[in-house]
Amino acid sequence: MILLLNGPNLSQLGHRDVAVYGSATIQEIVATARAAHPDLDVLTAESEGELVERLHRARTDGTTAVIVNPGALGHYSYALRDALEILAVPKVEVHLSQTHARQPFRRHSVIGDVVDVSITGAGALGYQLAVQAALHLLAGDGQDVG
Ligand code: DQA
Repeated sequence: MILLLNGPNLSQLGHRDVAVYGSATIQEIVATARAAHPDLDVLTAESEGELVERLHRARTDGTTAVIVNPGALGHYSYALRDALEILAVPKVEVHLSQTHARQPFRRHSVIGDVVDVSITGAGALGYQLAVQAALHLLAGDGQDVG
């Protein structure tokens, strides 16, 4: 089972800065990811603690890979970073927007060094790409170029 985590304010997609994030809701985006891989467990949470606790449980609940859109937590949460580091499964970070082309504080990811793949700026498609990347890593093809 692949665990998909969405951090704070992603629940507001659909009416949050549509020019940057698009008009799809998080439910619609998750549905496209689930179409790519039905065995997906999803948590969309506003609080750092809830996300950290879910990652702790993932160590023993059959989670085989993690996809995370940490929202703003990705720029400053060392707690989320450390919880991801503890988990020895493939990990994919996804951001809808191109964070590197936005405000300076969005250009740095504090989880970048504990994930295998980072996808930024592909919009909702990024979630499907993240599923593909996770499946690719699970198949053991992480380091090849083909
Ligand atoms: C985001 C980018 C973050 O900088 C922002 O705080 C979000 C959404 C994205 O998906 O583009 O909440 O993670």
